[in-house]
Amino acid sequence: MRCTLPTILGLILLTACQGAPPAVDPGPSHAGDGWYAFRAAQLGIEESAARERDAAFSTEIPAETRSDTEMRREARALWRDLCAHCHGSRGRVEDATIATSPGQKPPRDWGSFGSAFAFAITGDGFRAVVYRRIAEGGDREGVPNTMPGWDRTLSREQIWALAALIEDF
Ligand code: HEC
Repeated sequence: MRCTLPTILGLILLTACQGAPPAVDPGPSHAGDGWYAFRAAQLGIEESAARERDAAFSTEIPAETRSDTEMRREARALWRDLCAHCHGSRGRVEDATIATSPGQKPPRDWGSFGSAFAFAITGDGFRAVVYRRIAEGGDREGVPNTMPGWDRTLSREQIWALAALIEDF
């Protein structure tokens, strides 16, 4: 079995060179009140129970959305429909189709060493900051910007799923 090592190395190289798999279309997103009926049907509960369930999620401690295929799919669809034009399809501002107005701060680049470091060091504290910025929009360090607040159109679970998507970029 003298060729075992080269074979293994060859396989690793082959896998690494194949690149990212083609992106699968996440389907429709559900901003607004229609979300609760949709989510209730997925969970097999009443719409009122889906609203109560959502209201019970903390705004400080992340809801676990990564293990939920439906929430991962929803986050990708919301990002594509509501966020990508300003933030880039993979969270890189260079891919955005709407530029920041002069005098405004541009969004951050996600997936950078800096953002990975912030998530790693500050953990749920930083995740809560990201949640708040999505929920409330508003200004960073007092400089006005075009980031809308989403807490009237998105559920807490959707916002946490978006925060997880951002962390995973
Ligand atoms: C109209 C453009 C626009 C849209 C749409 C938009 N954003 Fe933003 N967003 C911005 C700008 C500009 C900033 C930077 C403002 C600042 O921090 O001063 C920002 C900031 C943020 C931040 C804080 C960190 C940062 O990049 O500075 C998060 C998190 C964020 N956006 C998430 C989202 C999510 C999630 C969506 C979709 C649900 C979204 N944004 C939609 C323009 C937009």
